[in-house]
Amino acid sequence: MVISKKLEKALNEQINAEMWSSNLYMAMSFYCDKEGFSGFGGWLKKQAAEELEHAYAMAGFLIQRGGTAKVGKIAEVPASWKNPLDMFKKVYEHECHVSELINKLLDMAVADKDKASEDFFWQFVREQVEEEATASEIVSKIEKFGQTALFQLDSRLGQRK
Ligand SMILES: [Fe+2]
Ligand SMILES: [Fe+2]
Repeated sequence: MVISKKLEKALNEQINAEMWSSNLYMAMSFYCDKEGFSGFGGWLKKQAAEELEHAYAMAGFLIQRGGTAKVGKIAEVPASWKNPLDMFKKVYEHECHVSELINKLLDMAVADKDKASEDFFWQFVREQVEEEATASEIVSKIEKFGQTALFQLDSRLGQRK
């Protein structure tokens, strides 16, 4: 069953959103590197690469289902934040926003009675649970333990493989 035109369009929009996310995390990594948080910088670069992987996975699925994947124009991303706490709050907010986008895609697949797309989107529903939890844990650690948390988190997140 070929994917519907409506879902094809929505998936291409999501591919664009994943690329935007990737650029956002790249910009955040540059900000952290400049501010001396090289652990956060390294973690964010891996985060950026992971978002691109999402875009590739979505494009691959779209092509398998007879659709066409497109690379559209990517809107500019923010370049600076007040401090790392402010930045990680934005990471959390952004991941919550992405979760909403994924939920909408799943709703569309259900409306289309497109089981293959439903199945495909469920993995991203699960992925978003992890993404939100990670960001929210970082935010609450910094809020509770301030500078100490910043120092420890920077070295812990810098070890991400
Ligand atoms: Fe993603
Ligand atoms: Fe993400």
